Amino acid sequence: METIVSGIRPTGNLHLGNYFGAVKNFVRLQEQANCYFFIADYHSLTTHPHPDNLHKQVRQVLAEYLACGLDPEKCTLFIQSDLPETAELYMLLGMNAYVGELERCTSFKDKIRQQPDNINAGLFTYPVLMAADILIHKASKVPVGKDQQQHLEMTRQFANRFNRIYETDVFPEPEAYNFGNELVKVPGLDGSGKMGKSEGEGNAVFLFDEPEAILKKVKKAVTDSGPTEPNQPKAASIQNIFDLMNLVSQPETIQFFNEQYDACSIRYGDMKKQLAEDMIIFTTPYREKIKTLINDDAYLKKIALAGKEKARESASKTIKEVREIIGFRSF
Ligand code: TYM
Repeated sequence: METIVSGIRPTGNLHLGNYFGAVKNFVRLQEQANCYFFIADYHSLTTHPHPDNLHKQVRQVLAEYLACGLDPEKCTLFIQSDLPETAELYMLLGMNAYVGELERCTSFKDKIRQQPDNINAGLFTYPVLMAADILIHKASKVPVGKDQQQHLEMTRQFANRFNRIYETDVFPEPEAYNFGNELVKVPGLDGSGKMGKSEGEGNAVFLFDEPEAILKKVKKAVTDSGPTEPNQPKAASIQNIFDLMNLVSQPETIQFFNEQYDACSIRYGDMKKQLAEDMIIFTTPYREKIKTLINDDAYLKKIALAGKEKARESASKTIKEVREIIGFRSF
């Protein structure tokens, strides 16, 4: 059976990008593969969260995973920092990761721009930790959104290099995975790039957002002054609104607004209202489930403990093997 690994940083609540880029695939994959899904709390330290907030966010994402349909009976659901084996593998893989390749990583370059006062070593070696997460369970597939594609390529590179250096085949070369083949990129509401937690206020719609918050954010979404001639190509900001509709709205609704756009009679206000309504219909059942789960301390604790045990079983096997390969042998 195939092994699948993926994770999400608890730097904010789950947004529609996380859902459609990753979690939707997790829910399907748990039915057919040996899946390890985790909360990447080590990774979130690159932005220096307050200890109370860190724990609160880990709980929130755990409740959100469960609300989205991750079933601890079908997959291994755990918290990254519960696996010291990952930290060890991160250190070992780091010995064969080169400064040049880490410097070329696009997400590192983005972070330098986003947080110029906090360019820490954790940010720099972020892809190495991610590789450790994946390789510690010897995953062959990693369900992620398009923004993680380069990190996955680096993981393959590190796996391959380790195998070559030590003349072993201990690590498979994992592939980025989406059911529809193409990796998903969910746009944000600010007219530019992707939906994301660190892309600025109002850019992301969270599963946990109240209806009024969704309406307010969508109303503010960036648009243009409207088409001036029939069948005009759409500006990026408008294409974003259509792309978001594609995720949550009925095909007839999308067709209706496409026709209106092509006929130059589109009213963006109406379109946004419809998009907000469809997002609310989509997110409401999740929000309600999250609210119930987040208060169930005993259940969350039970899930986290069971996940930790299962994940460590697999992780400790790999680390034992790796130590032996490297040459750390007992006397
Ligand atoms: P993170 O926490 O930024 O995002 C979690 C998952 O959500 C996907 N995603 C998106 N997909 C499509 N469109 C978007 N706008 C969008 N925004 C987020 C991401 O692709 C990701 O799949 N480095 C990872 C966490 C991680 C990880 C791992 C993932 C740590 N170790 C090992 C896989 C395997 C991250 O920061 O994702």
